[in-house]
Amino acid sequence: MTTEGAVKECDLRDPAPKKYEPISRALSQITGTVPTFPGAQSHRREETVLMSTPIPDRKVEVAPFQVTAALCTTTVLIGALVDGKPNYMTIAWCSPATHSPPSFMFACNKTHHTNKGIFANRNFSVNIPCVDQVQLLDYCGVHSGTEVDKAHLGHSFFGITRTAPMLARCPVCFECTLTHQLDLGVHFVIVGKVEKVWANEDIVERGPQGEAIDVTRLNPILFSFCGPSYRSLGPAHGTAWKTAGDYDPARDPAALATISPAPTPGAIPHPHPAPPKAPVDYPHVDLEKCLGCGNCVQGCPMSLFAQGGDGKAIFDTGRIPDCTHCHHCKEGCPVEAITFSV
Ligand SMILES: Cc1cc2nc3c(=O)[nH]c(=O)nc-3n(C[C@H](O)[C@H](O)[C@H](O)COP(=O)(O)O)c2cc1C
Ligand code: SF4
Ligand code: SF4
Repeated sequence: MTTEGAVKECDLRDPAPKKYEPISRALSQITGTVPTFPGAQSHRREETVLMSTPIPDRKVEVAPFQVTAALCTTTVLIGALVDGKPNYMTIAWCSPATHSPPSFMFACNKTHHTNKGIFANRNFSVNIPCVDQVQLLDYCGVHSGTEVDKAHLGHSFFGITRTAPMLARCPVCFECTLTHQLDLGVHFVIVGKVEKVWANEDIVERGPQGEAIDVTRLNPILFSFCGPSYRSLGPAHGTAWKTAGDYDPARDPAALATISPAPTPGAIPHPHPAPPKAPVDYPHVDLEKCLGCGNCVQGCPMSLFAQGGDGKAIFDTGRIPDCTHCHHCKEGCPVEAITFSV
């Protein structure tokens, strides 16, 4: 039983992970009508046409885990006191969870050293580095506190939680108390209530609602598995909650288009992939042990695994440089069939 405010756990593990299989276009045709909503009657004919249209020719299906390439997220350092020492880990899958109380949630592999401190002290910090600190951010994501001492990354300070270390060199630090922990199998989703926020004074502006962080001056690091790459904010393209203005889809010819316009050529330069370092280690599957469960196929953010006719895992050795060494494949394998070597 759980009580209000206590750490809550539940198990949403899928007992039989499914193999990724693109659906056929023929099966994808949907017929039906759109549920009505106030003011929609005058467009009923067009809605029916839109609903009965097959998947447009120029839409191709990509693997579900491409969600990680399509979404760019502000990348943070989560801090916790582990065995009396500050430790920080890089987390790209972090998001605000609620406004009230203000809270953060992030997805965290169960094996991380930082977790030990989060669960022991029931608190953690969320530190946002700026683009000048990209090496620091990457360092915390490729080295575990089990192998290096991350207490020396910079001055750590403590606020009202007393035990959630914050990295002073990061422009914004949130101190949080642990409120929820959701067990998703390989990852925990951890939710924490923000108790206090500490920001460098040069990125803070006084607004109508008090001190506000100026995100342009903060200049956070965005991450995408596309590359995989670190990126930064581009120009603003509108004012949220205002830009819709008097937009009327019924008068917008683009509303009938089956595909969005191509981005302006040259507007988004594609990053050149970093040259691979040699020698590079990569996953090897012990086929004697492999159960064919498909966890590695599902868990690899770069789609580097497939299942053969017998269901056993095959790593795409033609794409070794694409491996990010996230070790999701190894950590998700129930029988330790995956090892890394050159
Ligand atoms: C760019 C980047 C993003 C990462 N994002 C996550 C994430 O969202 N969730 C996660 O569990 N691990 C993520 N990691 C991996 C951890 O940061 C990494 O395993 C780290 O070494 C854990 O540190 P610890 O063992 O000291 O806690 C990321 C790593 C990098 C380089
Ligand atoms: S370590 Fe495994 S899961 Fe991660 S990118 Fe490489 S092959 Fe894919
Ligand atoms: S290598 Fe491991 S995770 Fe991949 S299919 Fe085989 S048993 Fe499952």
